[in-house]
Amino acid sequence: MNSTKLPLVLLIALLLFSCNRSTGQSNAPPDLSDTIDRHAREAFVEDYWRFIFEQAGLPDRFARSIIISVLDSPEFVMELLGILEGDPYLYLLVDKQNPLPMDYEPDDLIALTAGGSFRITRNDLTLRTIPARSLEEMARAARADGVVLTVGSAYRSGPRQAEIYDWNVRTYGQEAADRHSARPGMSQHQLGLVVDFSPIEDSFAQTPASAWLVENASRFGWSLSYPDGYEHVTGYRWESWHYRYMGRDITSFIDNYFDGIQQYALQFIQVWQQQ
Ligand code: DAL
Ligand code: ZN
Repeated sequence: MNSTKLPLVLLIALLLFSCNRSTGQSNAPPDLSDTIDRHAREAFVEDYWRFIFEQAGLPDRFARSIIISVLDSPEFVMELLGILEGDPYLYLLVDKQNPLPMDYEPDDLIALTAGGSFRITRNDLTLRTIPARSLEEMARAARADGVVLTVGSAYRSGPRQAEIYDWNVRTYGQEAADRHSARPGMSQHQLGLVVDFSPIEDSFAQTPASAWLVENASRFGWSLSYPDGYEHVTGYRWESWHYRYMGRDITSFIDNYFDGIQQYALQFIQVWQQQ
């Protein structure tokens, strides 16, 4: 099979399948060959998605629910294709297995300054332009609800991450450091799409800012990267303060199909693209 063409083949199969379903209300006598075709198409769709989910190492529960939604309508595939047309860095998997080049630096970094709706804890914070604007919009909405968001860390270059990681190793030892600090090249912060809200410590989870973000961040296109109970999946312990900007299309996709778990969605997208 020509693997690079597979998503298109799948899309056509899904659209044909949907058409057949919608015309299935006619008064014509049942045609057995239609039924056989439908079963063949269902089997094709099911095998395809199971293969992708196995490759991505995702729990079977996602395969089951996505297969059901894919068989019902082509919406899942349409949403996915829409995401892939956007900025690839928004859905790029950066983790312990998938590093960025050490010298990768976004070319649209802008300074985060005081005077807007969010607070800052230092004056050297930068972020890519679109997440910086989105952050302002989100912080304005939080203010309207009586909540102040404070930014403690944002973009970090590869060399800056090396300093932070080395400090963590010296302070906590390597094993502990690897649970909460990315090695250089492996930090999402290098994408210029991530904010650590302050205070950058476990007590953040008890703040009104955290409660507000848990409830609302996804609406603004922000996703918690390292949720509680998923260290075996993300490689990092719970970081209630670390949010990645992905855009609304991607956070809806994550919420709708992957139980809000960013890592699962990004692993899935990576494998799907590679097929
Ligand atoms: N604390 C996260 C894992 C980082 O260092 O990027
Ligand atoms: Zn962080």
